[in-house]
Amino acid sequence: MIDTFPPFALDASSTIGLPEQTKIGFVGLGRMGTALAANLAARGREVIAYVRHPDRIHKLAALGLTPTTDNADLFDCDVVVSMLPNDDAVLDASFGRTGPGGEGFALGLRRGAIHLSMSTIGTATASHLAREHARHGQGFVAASVFGDPDAAKARQLFIVMAGAPADVERCRVLVGDLAHQTFIVGTDPGHANLIKLLGNMMMATALEMRGDSIALVRKCGLDPKHSPQIGSGTMVGGCAGLHDDSGSYAAGLALPPAFKGLRGALAKAAAAAVPMPSVNAVRDRLIAGIARGNAVLDWTALSLIATQEARIKAAFLPARRKPS
Ligand SMILES: NC(=O)c1ccc[n+]([C@@H]2O[C@H](COP(=O)([O-])OP(=O)(O)OC[C@H]3O[C@@H](n4cnc5c(N)ncnc54)[C@H](OP(=O)(O)O)[C@@H]3O)[C@@H](O)[C@H]2O)c1
Repeated sequence: MIDTFPPFALDASSTIGLPEQTKIGFVGLGRMGTALAANLAARGREVIAYVRHPDRIHKLAALGLTPTTDNADLFDCDVVVSMLPNDDAVLDASFGRTGPGGEGFALGLRRGAIHLSMSTIGTATASHLAREHARHGQGFVAASVFGDPDAAKARQLFIVMAGAPADVERCRVLVGDLAHQTFIVGTDPGHANLIKLLGNMMMATALEMRGDSIALVRKCGLDPKHSPQIGSGTMVGGCAGLHDDSGSYAAGLALPPAFKGLRGALAKAAAAAVPMPSVNAVRDRLIAGIARGNAVLDWTALSLIATQEARIKAAFLPARRKPS
């Protein structure tokens, strides 16, 4: 049960929380992470950005970050933000679960510091991380993110937080600096991840229905733009790809992380004995898209997969894109 739901919306102008001179560490400088870290630096915060590849250093420094390839440079940070692709990457980066040279930053992080986890990960992983950090005398706050890299750049994200109240309080201003609106949904970090997984589940299901509708409308010889529901996107807003019929499918959220979100939500639903037949169907569609070599495309490519399944001539199939 989510005991503090409906959530408490934060006032981003609050001055409670970390002082300005707080030293922030950052792990996971990809599309989302780079935008978030750059926004923190633009607010005048010192951000130590850990990357695995030295060729990233120059560009990150130009954004006002302090890049490093040594994760020991994160040890004296007050907060380490992670924005990593999946559960394994967060476990690896924090506690060094697998691989050579894989000492995670949490093993050297000082007591009292906080791991602010912004990645989309499963609820069980979030709970595991909270326990492990507690064992090391550290805090763990989940801050799940709704919005794509453009929204991140523009500070237009919706962020859902959960964790021990004192730790959430210490991260409030930091998170408020990145978000359009922030919500606190409870003290169990896994609950923030659950809300995120359910949001992705609803969006993927809506995209699938849209794809099916477009396939049928096209097979009937109609222009999809003539369908008011499809053309206007009135049913589901906030997803740029819903309004883009160009067929470029430029990745905001690519198919593998979209699949990861559905898998996490379905695991939770199965554990709670809640059947979700339509979501299972969408999950299989995502698998089909990945199997067809479309992993680099945005999840709005669910409509492309529906088109392919309907054997519609590839009038607007996208050119193959390289991964960004
Ligand atoms: N994209 C979206 O629209 C969106 C929206 C909301 C939430 N999210 C979530 O945000 C998270 C990040 O997504 P993204 O799109 O930014 O992914 P991304 O572009 O693939 O970036 C992931 C970054 O993590 C780094 N990384 C991976 N494993 C690492 C490790 N063990 N240690 C250090 N760095 C590591 C990668 O660096 P290397 O170059 O070293 O591999 C890469 O720079 C995901 O959990 C995603 O589900 C994404």
